[in-house]
Amino acid sequence: MEERIKRLKKERNAIILAHNYQPSQIQDISDFVGDSLDLSRKAVEVDAEIIVFCGVYFMAETANILSPEKITLLPNAHAGCQLADMITVEALKEKKKKYPDAAVVCYVNSPAAVKAESDICCTSANALAVVNSLNGFDKVIFVPDKNLGSYVASMTGKEIILWDGYCPVHDDIEPGQVEKLKESYSGAVFIAHPECRPDVLNLADEVLGTSGMVRFAKETSAKEIIVGTEEGMIYRLQKENPEKKFVKIEGAICKDMKIITLDRIEKSLKNLGTRVVVPKEVRVKAEEAVNKMIKIS
Ligand code: 13P
Ligand code: SF4
Repeated sequence: MEERIKRLKKERNAIILAHNYQPSQIQDISDFVGDSLDLSRKAVEVDAEIIVFCGVYFMAETANILSPEKITLLPNAHAGCQLADMITVEALKEKKKKYPDAAVVCYVNSPAAVKAESDICCTSANALAVVNSLNGFDKVIFVPDKNLGSYVASMTGKEIILWDGYCPVHDDIEPGQVEKLKESYSGAVFIAHPECRPDVLNLADEVLGTSGMVRFAKETSAKEIIVGTEEGMIYRLQKENPEKKFVKIEGAICKDMKIITLDRIEKSLKNLGTRVVVPKEVRVKAEEAVNKMIKIS
């Protein structure tokens, strides 16, 4: 199947992008593996007619927002993001009425229509820099992740108005689980994704998005690293740093990330489904918010 995918990819002038949480076999056949920000940049840079996006819906939407001239395919149309589903554009408009003097920063894990209604986008890798870049605004509505929002709030002088959204995969990680692992691996460092709850982030040696984790894993002199994020991350970290030990958090699995399969990728390349297209009126405004972020990063 891998050979067939490679052949189809060539015939179609396609490229396969995969998020760091994708299953190992998907990461291995991909042309590029990265975090949400890397992948959106890559979607623009690559010289291909088709992007097969192995990740979740909002990521494929972001690729289409930035590269509308390419065909963006999501091999499984059901790969959503529970966090992105916790906000609607109607609800955001209501919130904006309540705080008319606040800027809106939207985490990239959100629907395209919400991005279009926001002043600027951010990812886990640049959220603080984005918030601090908003000169002239003391108040910021931060959507939809309350955990990332409170993490940013703890480090900025601006007033952050939180949205009641969260990623169930990260929000379910308990401090007790981390403490137990720290006892079992006494020399280990603990790195955590900012989508984790504040009581978990308090235990972290480093708070990092997935690209930050990749960098940290290479640079650290620690030999054991407890990884506070979705377990797919372990595969890449271990592959790139075979001499170190990476310890996962039991149960931290994003089911949506796991429904992309080799079989689906092959079908997708054959029948060009499922194509993700953001309507032009949404796309143009969303692009502004995403591009403002890219300039800052
Ligand atoms: P990163 O941008 O850090 O890869 O995070 C994306 C995500 O979905 C985290 O749950
Ligand atoms: Fe969304 Fe959470 Fe899955 Fe990331 S891990 S894609 S935030 S549900």
